[in-house]
Amino acid sequence: MKRLAVALVAILSLTLAHAARADEPIVLKFSHVVAPDAPKGKAALFFKELAEKYTGGRVRVEIYPNSSLYKDKEELEALQLGSVQLLAPSISKFSPLGVKEFDIFDLPFLLSDEARARQMMASPMMADLNKKLENKGVSPLAYWDNGAHDYTANKPLIMPDDFRGMKMRIQGSKVQDAMTRELGAIPQIIAFGELYQALQTGVVDGEDNVPTNILTQRFYEVQKHLTISHHGRLTYALVTNKTFWNSLPQDVRAQLDRAVNESTDFFNTTAAKDNEDAIEKIRASGKTEIHVLTEAEKKAWISKLMPVHNEMQRRFGKDFIESVYKASGFTPPQS
Ligand code: LMR
Repeated sequence: MKRLAVALVAILSLTLAHAARADEPIVLKFSHVVAPDAPKGKAALFFKELAEKYTGGRVRVEIYPNSSLYKDKEELEALQLGSVQLLAPSISKFSPLGVKEFDIFDLPFLLSDEARARQMMASPMMADLNKKLENKGVSPLAYWDNGAHDYTANKPLIMPDDFRGMKMRIQGSKVQDAMTRELGAIPQIIAFGELYQALQTGVVDGEDNVPTNILTQRFYEVQKHLTISHHGRLTYALVTNKTFWNSLPQDVRAQLDRAVNESTDFFNTTAAKDNEDAIEKIRASGKTEIHVLTEAEKKAWISKLMPVHNEMQRRFGKDFIESVYKASGFTPPQS
């Protein structure tokens, strides 16, 4: 009799616990490395607002900005382990997952132009690359275009020779590594969350980024020069843990997909303007001198850096590189 009572109490408490869990919101932890007022930070907040509204509170989104939860490499590991459910890393950071193909998008001047960058990310070719991420348990939900990269340093970087001997921070891709070496500089991988200090203390002499990051992370306070070079691009992949996403109730998932689509539109329509404004704010600070590459200077950069495209044929294969050219509409300049 006593045993039966114990069993009944156990069943009842399990049932109650299950009922309580069913009532509790599904928590989505969204970790990222930038400031809340950078384009990614704003889009994360926008997504939170929509996701909570569209699901009537069945989903709660917790945002952890500024590497407060995880840094670059750790956040991808945490996503695979299911400790966080959403990230929006730069696609230049995927090779530690064992997916090296995304490095290709760092080929110098390949995606400097917005139309080409967007054409690439919307191309059918991305389906194969998305599959490679999914095989690692990471599902891409959208791509967010944060514009072209510029260089910063404590000396003017006008001609390729100016890079000689400089220690330059890179995000991690092998193409960024090859490109930095081609310029005669020394590449160093540093997590974004550690970059301000690395620049301030001289661990590295310079870096490349989008203006909104240079502004909101206050890199301009410790970098006297900025060159508008548009040699590369910062694209984010909004990614989730595949098992988690597939386990969501269908109606919840439909509402989250809607929130993802609208946040993507929000990102892609506001980031360019935010980056233009950031340049003006950096200029107005009077702390950083801004140089826009002239046509002749840009030509010199292109002819210095095009050999990286050829060098990377060994790593990625000529066919793959040519299919990326075709998908993005890039025509290699004739030298
Ligand atoms: C960087 O590491 O420089 C950027 O990708 C950071 C970011 O996420 O914008």
